[in-house]
Amino acid sequence: MSTVVFPFRVEDPEVVLNNLRIAASHPAVDLVLAVGAEAESTFAAVEAARAAISSETSTPLELILQERIGSKRPGKGDGMNTALRYFLTETSADRLHFYDADITSFGPEWITRAERGADLGYDVVRHFFPRSSTDAMITWMVTRTGFALLWPRSELPQIEQPLGGELLFTRPVVEALVANDRVQAQSDWGIDTLYTFSTVQAGFSVYETYVRQGKAHALYGGLTDLRSMLVECFSAMQGLAGEQLGGAVTHRVEPTEAVPAAITEKIGYNLEATLQLLGEDWTDGQVGLLEHFPATVRNGMLSNCRRPTFLFMDEEAWHDAFKVLLEHFVPGDAGWEALLFRLWVTRVINYTATRALRGYDHAQRYLQSMVAGYVRRAVPAP
Ligand code: DGY
Repeated sequence: MSTVVFPFRVEDPEVVLNNLRIAASHPAVDLVLAVGAEAESTFAAVEAARAAISSETSTPLELILQERIGSKRPGKGDGMNTALRYFLTETSADRLHFYDADITSFGPEWITRAERGADLGYDVVRHFFPRSSTDAMITWMVTRTGFALLWPRSELPQIEQPLGGELLFTRPVVEALVANDRVQAQSDWGIDTLYTFSTVQAGFSVYETYVRQGKAHALYGGLTDLRSMLVECFSAMQGLAGEQLGGAVTHRVEPTEAVPAAITEKIGYNLEATLQLLGEDWTDGQVGLLEHFPATVRNGMLSNCRRPTFLFMDEEAWHDAFKVLLEHFVPGDAGWEALLFRLWVTRVINYTATRALRGYDHAQRYLQSMVAGYVRRAVPAP
């Protein structure tokens, strides 16, 4: 049987309660666990509805607060790791599912699809779904890029949504993650990177199941909303550099289907507001750090002090900038964090203007071939 976990912060309580009810009604599920980041209004709403949902569905619904486990900023990682520990000590279930609590398109088929992947014998099942061509910019420009440059021969760069919060772990996977000190330390947004990396490093097989309707959820307003996620995901990647992987893992990806217009036509962020970020708030410290970068990147970035410039930040320049960041970036240093954000914003605007605006299909093909190109570059010629 399976435990389904929803980590949550402040969300629309109606959406969260609906998702809890859907999970509790699923025949494969014998426990639903809601893990709140703090005791606020959404937590109170779940507490108030808990007994009713349990008795309506005949499935226990437990509500707990996340523990302080890790050593980074207390965040999503502490919530997910709290759930892993609870699963091992309080249940004897074989499988644990995670879903973001704010998905408005959640349904029983999300659970069924993951169960099917585990029935096929896979250790980890990951959901993936279509995302707008200007969404997923940390996934593409940081996580898939980093996996391609650092472990080009592995399955890591081929994983569709390595930052995805919708996944299933079988019990041995949960045991391995709880026993892994580095995973337990990762209390912040870096947790998804650590889960993806560590499950592949430990040799667990991966099945990726395709959810065609996509994940409708609360979206960010502008790229600034993603700053701390970007810094924490990049820092997590940098912290893994130098790690060795074992042998090949079994990895299967379900075929995709036609993508709904609501996704292909959507623009993920406010381009005008984001363009202004390029010229704002430069400090002498940030200008000084540009000395580490090759001339194309350094001069291009410096031109932004006068007017927005982004065409220089193509996939080649981003490759070179990324390598410098992997070597020199200092997590927690205000200048480096501001510069990382600025470089990434420049790359995202370049991609938006030169690729995403040519249409959804072109953009998807481009992103896939960008990662494949990075993989080829990272493997030394014989
Ligand atoms: C990503 O890049 O996947 C983040 O969720 C932001 O969209």
